[in-house]
Amino acid sequence: MQINNAIALVTGANRGIGLAFVKCLITRGVKKIYVGVRDVSLANSLVSLHSGLVHPITLDITNQNQIDAAVNEANDITLLINNAGANSNTALVAVDGLDNARSEMETNYFGTLSMCRAFAPVLKNNGGGTIVNVLSILSLVNLPASGSYSVSKAAAYSMNQGVRAELASQKTNVIGVMPGAVDTDMAKDFEGPKEKPLDIAQAAVRAIEDGVEDVFPGDMAQAVSQGHAQDAKAVEKEFSVYVPG
Ligand SMILES: NC(=O)c1ccc[n+]([C@@H]2O[C@H](COP(=O)([O-])OP(=O)(O)OC[C@H]3O[C@@H](n4cnc5c(N)ncnc54)[C@H](OP(=O)(O)O)[C@@H]3O)[C@@H](O)[C@H]2O)c1
Repeated sequence: MQINNAIALVTGANRGIGLAFVKCLITRGVKKIYVGVRDVSLANSLVSLHSGLVHPITLDITNQNQIDAAVNEANDITLLINNAGANSNTALVAVDGLDNARSEMETNYFGTLSMCRAFAPVLKNNGGGTIVNVLSILSLVNLPASGSYSVSKAAAYSMNQGVRAELASQKTNVIGVMPGAVDTDMAKDFEGPKEKPLDIAQAAVRAIEDGVEDVFPGDMAQAVSQGHAQDAKAVEKEFSVYVPG
């Protein structure tokens, strides 16, 4: 797929990696771009800056009515970027109740799956197209300080593989992006080195154009994925020291 022929929808487009995707796709000459945002007023500046090119859509990916409305409106897309995600930075055991764990599963797994299901027929009608699912290096290994988030991203990683297999016959490419820490609100409390959001978006866009299925952008993602391929248990042990508290 070439970006300059694409019509895209990006979820969670108002900040962080989602906003970087929007900027990157515009720079690469995307034909039209829908920006999915929970609060549509947060897309005002993008819309006025790129009038006629950027189209805002109110979209909470846990809300099936809003997803259905988005399908009606964005029925011309050829590229779906499932970027929206949530991280409560909580443990699995040392936390009161399961609310955070359920909410992360609702957004990161069920929400992303709902988007894939809803837009699969649209992409088929438009020739196949591409889905990019923004996952995490924590899809491969659990970080106990963000234990429930890691679980939701592991579920989404498996979902990404299953959706890829199911949609191969309709010629929809399904790409998983597994970054390490990225310099956004989500990782504001992480003190180690962080990738720039634009670098993540650019790596994903290269994968879209080159037909690469799995992207591990940045030094942390590269090191963890290579280490995981060689010795998954050693990587688990390395991450196990990051317990909360
Ligand atoms: N930052 C990292 O270190 C890192 C590393 C690996 C993977 N990721 C993944 O990258 C993606 C983007 O994260 P980010 O770092 O850019 O985080 P962020 O700055 O916290 O932005 C998250 C975005 O997702 C949106 N969102 C959250 N829940 C939503 C829902 N139910 N429906 C629709 N939109 C929703 C937010 O909208 P509001 O503004 O309305 O809250 C916001 O636009 C996520 O999938 C995240 O898991 C991030």
